[in-house]
Amino acid sequence: MYLRNIYNGVMILTGVEYLNIKSVKVLDVMDVILSRRSIRQYEQKEIQTEVLNKILEAGRQAPSAANRQPIHFIVVTEDNIKKELSKGLFNRFIKDSPLTIVGCANTGARLTGKWSIVDTTIALQNMVIAAWTMGVGSCWIGDFKEEKVKELLQIPNKWKVVALIPFGYPAEQPKPKKKKPVTELVSFNKFS
Ligand SMILES: Cc1cc2nc3c(=O)[nH]c(=O)nc-3n(C[C@H](O)[C@H](O)[C@H](O)COP(=O)(O)O)c2cc1C
Repeated sequence: MYLRNIYNGVMILTGVEYLNIKSVKVLDVMDVILSRRSIRQYEQKEIQTEVLNKILEAGRQAPSAANRQPIHFIVVTEDNIKKELSKGLFNRFIKDSPLTIVGCANTGARLTGKWSIVDTTIALQNMVIAAWTMGVGSCWIGDFKEEKVKELLQIPNKWKVVALIPFGYPAEQPKPKKKKPVTELVSFNKFS
């Protein structure tokens, strides 16, 4: 009953079940990382506040340069805003997500502004991974017009929109994407 989604033999709990049996360790971190897929189709099911709070907490606890946290997240739940954010070529499914998080970086922040995009990215990926442990899928979106998003969401000038990430319970089970072999991505002691 608890085991709703199965990815590569890894079982993932959906929100309510996760909360009910949270003392049971179901996935280890490697399972979570390896089973994650970009999810672009969502069940018509809300993400409970407790689940959302955990996702946001995973973002809040992320490392940041000098712990300055020049980051901000806008949780978009309103249909009309999601529709506006869905007007590109590769982001149409934002409107079908129960919520979409817009990650913003304060690039003008004192001392560590130059790291703010990295800080925001780390926090967003923490959220993606935390969500997946609770059966919530997501997909990074780079297909957005920054000026339009800033105007729509009243984001102050000095902030940069890093990415949009729709979250929702998966209504698809995508196959794993082909990844480059580690030998192509990694070298030891010098770039080669
Ligand atoms: C920075 C970034 C931007 C992305 N932008 C989009 C996008 O605009 N639309 C989309 O459908 N997927 C987008 N993706 C998802 C990638 O297509 C996906 O991560 C990639 O194909 C690998 O698949 P996987 O996430 O299932 O491993 C983006 C991913 C990243 C990291």
